[in-house]
Amino acid sequence: MNDSTDPSRTTDSNDTTDTTSTTDTTEDTTWRNDVTHSETAANAMNDDVWQGGRVGVWLIGARGSIGTVVAVGLHAMVAELAPPTGCTTAGAAFAGVPLPAFTDLVIGGHDVSTTPLVDRAQSMVDSGMLAHRFVAGTSETLARTDAEIRHGYDRRSHTGSQADAVRRMAADIADFRERHDLGRVVVIDVSSTEPIPEDHVEFHDPALLLAAIENPELALLPASSVAALAAIESGSAYACFTPSAGIGLPALRTLAAERGIAFAGQDGKTGETLLRTALAPMFNARGMRVLSWAGSNLLGGGDGATLADPEAVQSKLATKTRGLVSLVGDHVVAPLHIDNVPDLGDVKTAWDHIHAEGFLSSRITMQTIWTAYDSMLAAPLILDISRLLTLAAAAGQRGVVAELGFFFKEPWGSDVHDFSQQTIALREWAHATGAHLLATTRSAVTPA
Ligand SMILES: NC(=O)c1ccc[n+]([C@@H]2O[C@H](COP(=O)([O-])OP(=O)(O)OC[C@H]3O[C@@H](n4cnc5c(N)ncnc54)[C@H](O)[C@@H]3O)[C@@H](O)[C@H]2O)c1
Repeated sequence: MNDSTDPSRTTDSNDTTDTTSTTDTTEDTTWRNDVTHSETAANAMNDDVWQGGRVGVWLIGARGSIGTVVAVGLHAMVAELAPPTGCTTAGAAFAGVPLPAFTDLVIGGHDVSTTPLVDRAQSMVDSGMLAHRFVAGTSETLARTDAEIRHGYDRRSHTGSQADAVRRMAADIADFRERHDLGRVVVIDVSSTEPIPEDHVEFHDPALLLAAIENPELALLPASSVAALAAIESGSAYACFTPSAGIGLPALRTLAAERGIAFAGQDGKTGETLLRTALAPMFNARGMRVLSWAGSNLLGGGDGATLADPEAVQSKLATKTRGLVSLVGDHVVAPLHIDNVPDLGDVKTAWDHIHAEGFLSSRITMQTIWTAYDSMLAAPLILDISRLLTLAAAAGQRGVVAELGFFFKEPWGSDVHDFSQQTIALREWAHATGAHLLATTRSAVTPA
């Protein structure tokens, strides 16, 4: 996958970002006892080797739960109010890989909501999800991030063609890149889950699709794919953290590969599916035959409300089930429920009941209960994906980056769902890609 590189994009000056934040006198510094200084956010990011300048993280759905926690979390880490706990790329396994530092990341995005990030974060404090000190200590930087959010594509209010929307949104991203002198931008879709779209012949042919979206009478593309096309048109790398269509339509995937865009997906693997893809290989390895794996999910929040729609939930049920079937076989009985329980807010509880057959037909059952704040699980993954997709793009990779399947329920470009295999593949890929990038950067700056 390490084909061509683009050294001109990797020799920008390594600017530091605006890390201003208010001092929080109630700051809890106990975490510093748990980590060495070199593990703090400002230091655990190999910023001595990354030469690609500042990087934009453009979130589709930037004012949602995940978008808000990403912004609070990044600003809190940069201000050294919090360590990068939960960030895969901050671990020792990624030492020496040339990744942009957290301090290099600048957030912007699109949303159709106008509720300011600070208000959204405050509601998370009120619900007990976020500690007050993180919002108090980042409110100024949060307000600056909020000013970088532009109105997204809303089919109900949009006038003109979908191509007009794509051009306007691509221009928003290009302006953001220029305003902040960013070396690269990564677009990540964290917007509300959409229903599975009806198929159209245009979805399979880039030329037909580009012609069709010029017609203001037609609105063929789902909103997530309008945003994905804007990412392609702006020359940004792209990741689909949702089960929505996004860049997954064949015509868009072809266009992305043709235009040299690196992309990854799909649907973040953060809780129940993470647990399943860690546990299922154990049953296989011990020769046990999993007969059924039933699951029940309870959640509230914006995601819970969206998934209460019987059409939207089909996208999620599909991505959740495919990995399990691939790991234990298509004989498995795998009923799965997702229920909206509004008073739970962002807390998600997933109960799984596993029934397997062992030696001499003996019965084995196991039950797991996973409870967590869903967007707290997702936010560090968004930062990891931003850093790793930037590495892929800087090293000249184009098309799907299969090794980033580690982060997704439905890993594009790979059939591997086993979490330990994905972990090994991701680490090996990151080191090989990093070494390739460093070698080409050095050869580009070494005088002949
Ligand atoms: N652990 C997790 O939280 C997790 C894991 C995997 C996938 N996801 C997916 O991530 C997505 C976001 O989750 P969330 O909890 O932040 O949801 P949320 O409802 O809190 O936020 C979604 C945001 O998207 C915005 N939005 C809706 N339509 C839009 C459009 N056309 N353009 C731009 N923005 C738009 C909404 O206004 C809202 O701010 C969902 O699709 C969810 O299924 C979440």
